[in-house]
This record gives sequence, structure tokens and C-alpha cells, in this order.
Amino acid sequence: MTSTLNFLQLENKDHYKTAVNHYLSPHRKDSVKTKWENPFSLTVIKNAINKLEEKYSPKSLRVMDFGCGIGEGFVLVQNALNSLEFQTKELFYLGLDNSSEMVKVARQKWKDNKNINFQEADIRFEIPGNPTEIYLSCGVPYSHLTKEETQDALGHIFRAIKKNKTQSLVVIDVLGRYSIEWVSQWEHSRWSYRMSFLADVQEQEDMMMSCYYAHDLKSMIDRTSKQENCQIQDIEFFDRSVMVGRHTSTREYNSAIPPYREIINSLYESGRTTDFRELLFQSPSAQAPSPVKEFFDRFSHIWNQLVIEAAEFCGENLNIPNNNIPLPESVAGLKHQLSTLQESYCEQNFRTDILEPTLAEYLHRLESTMQPGLGVGHTLIGVVYVDGTK
Ligand SMILES: C[S@@+](CC[C@H](N)C(=O)[O-])C[C@H]1O[C@@H](n2cnc3c(N)ncnc32)[C@H](O)[C@@H]1O
Repeated sequence: MTSTLNFLQLENKDHYKTAVNHYLSPHRKDSVKTKWENPFSLTVIKNAINKLEEKYSPKSLRVMDFGCGIGEGFVLVQNALNSLEFQTKELFYLGLDNSSEMVKVARQKWKDNKNINFQEADIRFEIPGNPTEIYLSCGVPYSHLTKEETQDALGHIFRAIKKNKTQSLVVIDVLGRYSIEWVSQWEHSRWSYRMSFLADVQEQEDMMMSCYYAHDLKSMIDRTSKQENCQIQDIEFFDRSVMVGRHTSTREYNSAIPPYREIINSLYESGRTTDFRELLFQSPSAQAPSPVKEFFDRFSHIWNQLVIEAAEFCGENLNIPNNNIPLPESVAGLKHQLSTLQESYCEQNFRTDILEPTLAEYLHRLESTMQPGLGVGHTLIGVVYVDGTK
């Protein structure tokens, strides 16, 4: 009786019925998506699979993708395997999603591959019991759930790992609590969110979403694994899209920031001059845990330093002091590289075709090497290595 009641109380609306157009739209694949976000996710998954291989060396890879949408998680894992030396390992993929529209489109898209299957399923309830090496998620599906529901979902996964005695990877993809996109919401961990950035979708309704500080997500994972008596070998966290989440362009929850995603896209656009001043970044002053404040203070200095160097190379003064702070090795030497590139470039559009994309690459490198895995980006990715044999 109680479970029937709980079931009836849970929201079961297909929010993604129309959003499926966004996932099929070519407009979704802007430069930030293809040059910043996808390579970052690929690196995270590649490293995770590599570590899984080092730790446990499973014979095949069985992937269960939670909130799979139209199956992009399959592409991610397949690309990771293709660039690793054990690419011949056989991959079996099962996508779970509670949107019947997503599942319908996904089945049609992958109908010719017998190793790819989809099931209409709600990840808040029991999951299929198949032994699985990678419990994947991407595109923040767990953020749709309340904290309690996510904890239950993790409990189901840990229980399955223990029952099947597998050594598995669990990837937990959620919205970062302290993203610059929603400074106005930093004091809340679950709030009414609208995906107003969706391409080729006319109207989007609000839906409640949970955002996470890594410390809280880690406590939840530790607590759940203890409850299920399941041993965690290692946990890592990554922040994806610190400066370029899609809501930096809508500015719906922070109108004080420049539309960074658009500006970074503009840096890659041939023949279009970008105003460097718009790229400057001021660390947010809202209340946040001290590691978050310290990160943004240091990150903003280095980000601005790179922008100032590019402007100075063009003979522009941005009227903010160049403190000439020592840059991390991964992003040192921008001016030197620009000089070298200029020597071998004979065309007219050096600034728009060479300098601006080079600056974008340095900013991307800064974001991906300095991200602290705290919950300061659009997405917080938790990667958990679990040993169900012990
Ligand atoms: C932003 S989309 C991401 C889709 C896909 N993983 C990707 O990265 O392209 C989030 C997905 O989570 C699914 N979802 C939300 N709540 C769910 C639930 N309780 N059970 C299963 N899927 C859910 C939605 O239907 C949607 O397809």
C-alpha cells in the first residue's frame, strides 16, 4: 500500500517529450560543445575506463546508462574505447529513460546495432539486475531527482554490484551548486529550473532540479555504500563548463555576467571580431563555502591575465592592471605562441582566424586543468570505483 502511494505521489510527467528536438538539432553542436565540453567528458570517461582496466581488467564492458536520452552515452563510451588500446573489448549498452518519446527516438536511431538496447524505466525505482561494469549518466539526469531519490537510486546500484559481485564504475552526473550561471540560487540546493536554452524547442516548463556541492555528494555516496555494505575503492570529482554553461548565454539566473558561452563561440568564428573586454571575469561575491570562493578568486585572476595578454598583443588596453601573475605551466606562453604563429601567417585576418581561436584554446585548457571538482561548473561529475567482490 505504502509503495503504491509513494508511486502515485512521484511526479511522472514526460518533461522531455518536446525536448527531444533539442537533442536532434544541429544547432546544439556549437563550438563550446564540440571543442570544450565533448573533449572534456571524453577525457574523464577515458581516464575512468583506463583506471577500471588497471584495477579490475573486465572481460567485456556492459554499460547501463541512467537517463540515457537518445543514447549519447553510448557514443561517449565507444569514442573512449576507440582511443584506448583495448578498443576491441566488446561493448554492450542498455539505456534507461522514463521519457517514452526519448526511448522511441533512441530505439529508432540505434535499431541496426544488436548490442544497444533501450528500456523505458524510471531510475527512482528498481533497476534491471544485469551484471554491469559501468553505471553511466550524462546530461545531469540525477538532478531531476530529490536528494533522497538519488540516494535510493545509488542504493539500487550498489546493491546490484554487491549481488552480481562485479567491480564497477559508477558515474554520477549532476548540476553544480556553485555555477556562475545561477549565483542567485546558490543558497538553495533544489530549485525551479527552466531549460530555456534548448535549441529548436518552442516552450519549456519549469522543473525542480537538485544542484550539488561535491562535499555533500561525497557524503551521500559514502553513506549509501556503507548502508549497502559495498566497498568503494576510489572517488573522483570533476567540474565541467565552469565559464560556459548554457545558462551563461540565457543569463536567466545571473544577469550580471556577460554571455560567456556566446563570447567563446565568437572567438572561434572566422572573420568575427570579439570584444576582449566582454570576456573579463569578476569573482562572484555571493555566500559560498571557502574552497569555492578561493577557487573563483584565483581562477578569475588567471583567466583575466590571459585575456589581457591577448589584448596587449593586439595593442589594446583593457584598462585593468596587468599584475603579471605567474601562470600555471599549462597556460603559460600565450604571447610567445602568438608571435610564432604570426611569423608564419601571411593572410589579413590574423586576429579573428588565428589569435582569437588560440586564446579560446588557452582559456579551455585553463578551465579543464584548474577545475577543482567542487560543484563550481554547470556539471559536477562524480566517478566512483566500487568493488562488489569484497
Ligand atoms: C538532459 S537529458 C540527458 C540525456 C542524455 N543522457 C544526454 O546526455 O544526452 C536528461 C534525461 O534524464 C531523463 N530522466 C529524468 N528523470 C528520469 C527518471 N526519473 N528516470 C529515468 N530517466 C529520467 C530525461 O527523460 C532525459 O532524457
